[in-house]
Amino acid sequence: MKRYPMYVNGEFVASESGKWFPVYDPSTEEVIAEVADGNAADVDRGVAAARAAFDTGGWPQTTAVERGRVLLRLAEKIRQNTAALAELECRNSGKPIVEAEFDIADAAACFEYYGGLANKIMGHVNPVPDNAISLSMKEPVGVAGQIIPWNYPLLMAAWKLAPALAAGCCCVLKPAEQTPLTVLTLAEWLAEAGVPPGVVNIITGFGETAGAPIVAHPGVDKVAFTGSVEVGKRIMRSASDTLKRVTLELGGKSPNIFFADADFEAAVDGALFGVFINQGEVCSAGSRILVERSIYKKMVEAMSEKAKKIRLGPPLERATKMGPLVSKEQCERVIAYLEVGKREAKVAAGGGRAKQFGRGYYVEPTIFYDVDNGARIAREEIFGPVAAVIPFDNEAQAIRVANDTPYGLAAAVWSRDIFKAFRMVKALRVGVVWVNHMQPTFVEAPWGGYKQSGFGRELGPWGIEEYLETKQVHINLNEQPMGWY
Ligand code: NAI
Ligand code: MG
Repeated sequence: MKRYPMYVNGEFVASESGKWFPVYDPSTEEVIAEVADGNAADVDRGVAAARAAFDTGGWPQTTAVERGRVLLRLAEKIRQNTAALAELECRNSGKPIVEAEFDIADAAACFEYYGGLANKIMGHVNPVPDNAISLSMKEPVGVAGQIIPWNYPLLMAAWKLAPALAAGCCCVLKPAEQTPLTVLTLAEWLAEAGVPPGVVNIITGFGETAGAPIVAHPGVDKVAFTGSVEVGKRIMRSASDTLKRVTLELGGKSPNIFFADADFEAAVDGALFGVFINQGEVCSAGSRILVERSIYKKMVEAMSEKAKKIRLGPPLERATKMGPLVSKEQCERVIAYLEVGKREAKVAAGGGRAKQFGRGYYVEPTIFYDVDNGARIAREEIFGPVAAVIPFDNEAQAIRVANDTPYGLAAAVWSRDIFKAFRMVKALRVGVVWVNHMQPTFVEAPWGGYKQSGFGRELGPWGIEEYLETKQVHINLNEQPMGWY
């Protein structure tokens, strides 16, 4: 059994407690590794290392171009090891191998993007009166505490680490307890890529025992979190004690909206892809499918027919389109929602655990229809392969239903009428809108939510901005004394 220690101050170390926790393959339910079980003492060590690297170790003083080169070297390492990383991600998370390969490529692209952006961050000269020069300078925010989920393990680590390092921050990152293996593999290359000791620390462990101490730690300047709304709220409360900067990327119940004039084949595929990709374990999953009444019946039928044929299977098989859910806990959560759904709406496809494999946390791709937008399966994030299909009669009603949710991460609109599509774009209260597509994510474009889906933006120049402070500098050009007193 391979043991994965954590990575603190440039070294791989056991936890202070000496404890380890098991990590599983969700397709076999077997333990595949043991990982150091970190707690507050380990967080202390990680934060002390990050503080030293930031305050006296010289990382913020390295030239931006050098930090950029470090990120590009990391990207190259990821690309050279795509096959091994994808396999590890696939085994540990249950996602299909083909999707895992996309994720690894996206993680490399994120390091490449911020590698290129590092030396393009500029300040401003502010247009104050002529007797002074006023500057605004960008400086790294300091030590960043970064807590990430299990649905895109290495990719989420890249979204957090790459902009922070480009900005000159030092990091204490905690991967999800379910999926820490790929980022611990990345840690093996940090030193070789030129990341000095203490600049990146990976503390492994559970939320309460290793995550919460990062958020509470007075040595941490900023917390970046991706995960559940419930934990997001706790993080915001805890971070208020030390007034840390906080960015949150939380859940969603994103509407995927189909007008009758949409390309029908594309619509059916887009509806399924929007909600079933990555087993539905996606913050932006199009889990509410709003369909115009005139195509509603035909669409539910076509979607169901196709959904029943989605190939579930062992994630390492290349033909597999849907693997198991990440964990026993998540599987039970989703199954509980299926029971709720059966009371609230009608089942068109799926509806239970996929038992044909004998083991593994497989759930059938499930489509509920005639769902009321007030139903629990339309309001609460399920984070599994479960779609709620809701009919609508006109554009105004589609907007009302789409926006009637506490969330606001993403939405998609399908129509050939550009006037209607653009009216929808403006009316939807969400951070990301796709037109005639759902889910493509570009490192060049901003990502983040409205409402209870959180705040702050990742990716693009917006993503690095969250790791920067702005310093105002005033240079007096009057040689005379002020003459006030
Ligand atoms: P979670 O929010 O508990 O876990 C996400 C990360 O936060 C993990 O690294 C975890 O260890 C950490 N964490 C947990 N409690 C913490 C605390 N008190 N302080 C600091 N860090 C803490 O999510 P979980 O329990 O894995 O999944 C529950 C639900 O959350 C899912 O069913 C889904 O609805 C939602 N979720 C949303 C995600 C998103 O991308 N927006 C990702 C993962 C889960
Ligand atoms: Mg949790």
